[in-house]
Amino acid sequence: MGQITLQDVQKSFGPVHIIKGADLEIADGSFVVFVGPSGCGKTTLLRLIAGLEDVSGGKILIDGKNVVDTPPAKRGLSMVFQSYALYPHMSVRGNIGFGLKMAGLPRTRPTARSRRPPRR
Ligand SMILES: Nc1ncnc2c1ncn2[C@@H]1O[C@H](COP(=O)(O)OP(=O)(O)OP(=O)(O)O)[C@@H](O)[C@H]1O
Ligand SMILES: [Mg+2]
Repeated sequence: MGQITLQDVQKSFGPVHIIKGADLEIADGSFVVFVGPSGCGKTTLLRLIAGLEDVSGGKILIDGKNVVDTPPAKRGLSMVFQSYALYPHMSVRGNIGFGLKMAGLPRTRPTARSRRPPRR
């Protein structure tokens, strides 16, 4: 996965300041949970780390490299959305295999891997 470091990460939507200076060290391989009341910014913080939102200030480092200008696909992260985002026209196998296909794995491997049930 890699080490993730947040340094004074800020996010505003217009005049509303949502993330007010988040500092965090997430060690490689560790399991971290964000807990807080609805609307406190948990999803926003995850979206900032994944690159789905631009930071308003601060740095996000992955393995020591500041990725705030790196597009989501180049950050090497995955995110499962709070509201499930499935491709309705694809089968279960198609949905699971899609990420592997996009990652450039050869056609035979996604098929074999996506036949196995997903691990919890
Ligand atoms: N794109 C957006 N534009 C404007 N405001 C936004 C946007 N996305 C989130 N917000 C606001 O930012 C705040 C934090 O939202 P966020 O979804 O991060 O909260 P959350 O902690 O994940 O809440 P929940 O527990 O309900 O999932 C909320 O006030 C929300 O209305
Ligand atoms: Mg949320």
